[in-house]
Amino acid sequence: MIALAASSSGTISDEVFVQLRDFIYEKTGIYVPDNKKYFLENRLSKILRDKNLRNFEDYLYFLKYSATKQDIAKLYDTITTNETFFFREPQQFEVFSDPLISQIIKENSQMGRKDIKIWSAACSTGEEPYTIAMILADKQELISFRKEIYASDISESVLISAKRAMYGSYSIRNVPPQYLAKYFKDSSGVYVLSETIKSMVKFMNINLIEEKEVKQLKGLDVVFCRNVLIYFDDKAKKKAVSLIYDVLRPKGYLFVGTSESLHNITRAFHPVVINKVVVYQKV
Ligand SMILES: C[S@@+](CC[C@H](N)C(=O)[O-])C[C@H]1O[C@@H](n2cnc3c(N)ncnc32)[C@H](O)[C@@H]1O
Repeated sequence: MIALAASSSGTISDEVFVQLRDFIYEKTGIYVPDNKKYFLENRLSKILRDKNLRNFEDYLYFLKYSATKQDIAKLYDTITTNETFFFREPQQFEVFSDPLISQIIKENSQMGRKDIKIWSAACSTGEEPYTIAMILADKQELISFRKEIYASDISESVLISAKRAMYGSYSIRNVPPQYLAKYFKDSSGVYVLSETIKSMVKFMNINLIEEKEVKQLKGLDVVFCRNVLIYFDDKAKKKAVSLIYDVLRPKGYLFVGTSESLHNITRAFHPVVINKVVVYQKV
């Protein structure tokens, strides 16, 4: 009886939980605390069924010794939390729009640069980078500037949906009316983003704790890394933030989520407060 209960696919033994948690952590930086065992049980049980695996121990063995790249991608799709929407935390976008963009134009012009480079570092289904794209597209001051917007995520399924750029009413509920009218087509309740905005964003699959992947980018003016570090422990946060530091240009800017802080994580950024919004500036 006991052996049967232990091998039931619905629950994870403490020992297997720790090994699964460590596996996920090493790969992604995402740390599943002891009291969130149910989270892994809920999220992973479908993979077990689809793969015809008897229990989580077999899944762990499979992950360690025979999983393909696609199997690991499926794990990432399953364990990540992808909640997002357009103009999320709007105060940050207000500060980005004014005064930060003018400041960047000034700084870059002094360096002889006629471009602006932004990275949405955990972009989920695309609402964040497309919000940035709409703001840049409507800035008269940027008309003669080359605009580069990179957007990345570890989950391939959200990137597929981001590239499709079709949204429901939940996602667009904060979009200011002038942007909604200009850049979306309402097709029976599905909001289809215009090609003008879609074509401004380049999507990539980047794991924030993988140096080689992050270093594909360089010389960025602003990084948005919002609502992802909350899933990491301090060690993984430090790693991700130091990689972001390396790809920002001197004095470049970093936004984290409004409920997040880099206190105790790094001294390589100075918090600058603009209109009550904290922006981290590379020292
Ligand atoms: C809650 S969403 C945040 C989306 C957006 N930045 C926002 O604030 O609305 C978090 C995203 O981080 C991604 N993520 C988690 N771990 C990651 C990692 N190690 N590297 C890159 N992206 C990661 C998830 O796949 C998910 O799409």
